[in-house]
Amino acid sequence: MTKSNIAIIILAAGKGTRMKSSLPKVLHSIGGRAMIDHVIDISLSLSNNLPIVVISNELSHFKSNLSEKACIAIQENQLGTGDAVKSALSFLPNDIDKVAVLYADTPLIKASTIEDMLTKLDDTNKVCVLGFNPDDPAEYGRLVVNDNGSLDSIVEYKDADDNQKQISLCNSGVIAVDGKLISSFINKIDNKNANNEYYLTDLVEIARNEDFNCSFVEAQEDEVLGVNNRMQLSEAEYIFQTRMRNKFMLSGVTMIDPKSVYFSYDTQICNDVVIEPNVFFGNKVVVESGVKIKAFSHIEGSIIGKNSVIGPFARLRPGTDLSGNNKIGNFVEIKNSEINEGSKINHLSYIGDAKVEKNVNIGAGTITCNYDGLNKHKTIIKEGAFIGSNSSIVAPVEVGSNSLIAAGSVVTDNVPNNNLAISRSRQVNKEKKGSN
Ligand code: UD1
Ligand code: CA
Repeated sequence: MTKSNIAIIILAAGKGTRMKSSLPKVLHSIGGRAMIDHVIDISLSLSNNLPIVVISNELSHFKSNLSEKACIAIQENQLGTGDAVKSALSFLPNDIDKVAVLYADTPLIKASTIEDMLTKLDDTNKVCVLGFNPDDPAEYGRLVVNDNGSLDSIVEYKDADDNQKQISLCNSGVIAVDGKLISSFINKIDNKNANNEYYLTDLVEIARNEDFNCSFVEAQEDEVLGVNNRMQLSEAEYIFQTRMRNKFMLSGVTMIDPKSVYFSYDTQICNDVVIEPNVFFGNKVVVESGVKIKAFSHIEGSIIGKNSVIGPFARLRPGTDLSGNNKIGNFVEIKNSEINEGSKINHLSYIGDAKVEKNVNIGAGTITCNYDGLNKHKTIIKEGAFIGSNSSIVAPVEVGSNSLIAAGSVVTDNVPNNNLAISRSRQVNKEKKGSN
């Protein structure tokens, strides 16, 4: 099976009204990434061809959001899943051997499951359907399996008789079809059913009528969870987070209370990292080995170098780059700053647009005043400098290496190397009147 002979069609033309949102359903996020992008990513791992995403006219103004990694087909009217696939056919590259149809609102599907389905297609077997056994089969379509264990048909709930409604094996919707036959199969679908819709599921009977075989693969229920409302969105998020937590624990990350730690789809964590409860990772975080992240820290767009200790209650914002052996303590916020090896910012500070060289100690309550109301400016603090507590460093400004800023200073001018800067009024003690 070569990736260049496989094509993926992703259905996303549904209205998503139950999300009660001005944002199209498939642009809602799981693990910090739009559902459609999860499915596009899975597609790209299966095929060298851009996936074909079917959207409705109403969504066409969101075309550019729908990723540059896809080819967009418009379904003019929502006449059913069969019709949706039909609108993608003209975008199929030539010489496609196998096609898989996925759903943009079913983002937890695993690439390995689709691979199993594609592998089942051969000279006689032309359609493979993804089934599952839900706790409650509700109104899902049912898979009718014959005595040989192959698939006879799929009956939609509304068209099923009482016996068929007893079947527990349900249709997830995901289907794999022979690439040479898909067009002729799809063009034979009609809408003579209870819904007057063009059912993609009719492919099974159409293939059987032409003496081909159809098969099925069974998935876990959580893999085929479809998101229609925000409760299901949070269920999908939960399943996604469980997968991420398990993946990290099995690769050597310790979590005291994994259920309270939230990851982004792209979080990277090395082994021997310890994460305390209630830590949130936004997009683009890399954590190197030996790091300890203490409770209630919020981290996004950051690199945390080896053996650093973060938090409790630390906030690392995008552009934070810690080289290693750093200590970032409670109520410290860092943004767009490079903090080099061994430097410490332990309490109650804001460090923004700064370069902090090695072995710098930044005292409690230090603020880099990086914004003058119009522009952001840079602060440079050189190797070995010591910033006394409650200092304001007004950028642009440079503190020289091994220099010391006296506590409570407002630093507006550069400080040369090996200097002591004091920038506050001198203390005056006056005897109280009337005190003998
Ligand atoms: C479909 C299956 C059913 C299966 C169920 C699983 C058919 C006929 N039925 O039913 O067997 O158990 O999914 O969830 O396929 N869509 C379009 N254009 C359309 C219609 C649908 O793009 O014209 C997309 C929707 O965005 C949605 C997906 O296809 O993501 C499924 O459509 P939906 O109408 O929800 O199908 P079901 O009736 O639930
Ligand atoms: Ca549905």
